[in-house]
Amino acid sequence: MNDEFLLKKLQERQEHNAFRRLLLPDGKTDFCSNDYLGIVRNQLLENKLCEHTQLFFKHGSTGSRLLAGNYALVEETEKKLAVFHEAEAGLIFNSGYDANLGLLSCVPQRGDTIIYDYLSHASLRDGIRLSFAQSFSFRHNDLADLEKRLQAATGTIFVVTESVFSMDGDMAPLIDISVLCEQYGAHLIVDEAHATGVVGANGEGLVQQLNLQAKCFARVHTFGKAVGCHGAIILGSDRLRNYLVNFSRSFIYSTALPEASVAAIRCAYELFPFMQEERAHLQQLINTFQHAPIAIGSNWEKLVSFTPIQIVVIPGNDPVKKVAGALQAAGLDVRAILYPTVPAGKERLRIVLHAFNSMQELHKLLWVLGG
Ligand SMILES: Cc1ncc(COP(=O)(O)O)c(C=O)c1O
Repeated sequence: MNDEFLLKKLQERQEHNAFRRLLLPDGKTDFCSNDYLGIVRNQLLENKLCEHTQLFFKHGSTGSRLLAGNYALVEETEKKLAVFHEAEAGLIFNSGYDANLGLLSCVPQRGDTIIYDYLSHASLRDGIRLSFAQSFSFRHNDLADLEKRLQAATGTIFVVTESVFSMDGDMAPLIDISVLCEQYGAHLIVDEAHATGVVGANGEGLVQQLNLQAKCFARVHTFGKAVGCHGAIILGSDRLRNYLVNFSRSFIYSTALPEASVAAIRCAYELFPFMQEERAHLQQLINTFQHAPIAIGSNWEKLVSFTPIQIVVIPGNDPVKKVAGALQAAGLDVRAILYPTVPAGKERLRIVLHAFNSMQELHKLLWVLGG
C-alpha cells in the first residue's frame, strides 16, 4: 500500500523537533502521570476488588447502553456518584474525551452561543467544533473578556471552562464566572478532570469546594486521572441525562464500559474520603515547589499553581527538550510539552506531583532545575 502521502506532514513535525513517539515506562521517578493519589501505583483498586472475591464482574458489556450494554451496576454507580457530587443525576461515558465531545456536540443548537476559555482541553474544543452553535473563546481566566463575549451572545448561551487547567495547573475563577453566567442567563459547563479526587475535603472537585453545584448546568468528572480507572461522568439534571441518552452520539453509538471497569470506578470513589493524608502530603509538595527558587535560564517562568500540575515555561522546543533530557538522565520522568500542543514560545516542562512522591525526590528535581 502506498502511504507516501503521509510523509510530508510527518517530516514537518521532525523539522520542528516536535515528532511524537510512544515511550514505554522505564522505572524513572514518576513526575508525569495523572495518578495524583497513587491509586494505580499502589494497586489500591486491585486490593479492594479482591475483598469482593464472591462477586464476579464481566469484562465485556456486549453492546451500547441503549441495546444489550446496560446493567444494574452502572445505573447504581451513576446514582452513587451523583450523590457524592451533589447532583440530581449522572451519565457515565467511556472516556472524558467522549463525554466532552458528546455533551458539547449535541446540547448547543444552531443560533446558540458557546463561549469557552482559550485554554480549554482538545476534547471540549472538538465537541464545540462538532456543534452547529456559534462559538468564541475568551482570554484565559479573563473575566472582562468573558463579559464582552456574553454581551454579544445570542440564543441559549453556554460558558465552558476547566476547573483546573491541564497544561497550566491554575484554577478558573469559578465564583466570578458563575456570577457572570447568572447575570447573562448563561449555562455553565465545568470540566473537573484534574480536580476530581484532588480538590475538596473528599476530592469532590472545585465546584463543590466553592459550593457552586447548583450554579452549574453540567459538570464533567473523568476517571482516568486521580480515580485511576477509565471513563467519565456528566452530572446535571435528570432532564439533561435523558437528553444525552437520546441525542449524545458518543454515548449512543459506542459499546458501554464493562462491569469490571465500573466496579473499579466505584471502589475508587469509596477510597476518596479516606485519602486525606495523601491530599495533605500532595499539598506540602505543591507548597515546596511553589516556594523553591529555580535559578537557571533567565527566560524561564515558573507558573503560579496550587494543584499537582506545576509548570516551568522554557521557550522553544529545543531548549525545553534539553532540560527534560537532563531530568530524565537524573532518573526523573518529567516530560516536555512542545509546540504545537502549546503555542510557540510557551513550551514547558509539565511536572506532575503525586501523593507517593517523597520530599527527597522533589528536592532532587529542584536541584537539577538549579534551585
Ligand atoms: C481537562 C481534560 N478534560 C478531558 C480529558 C479527557 O479525558 P480522558 O482521558 O478520560 O479521555 C482530559 C485528558 O487529558 C483533560 O485533561
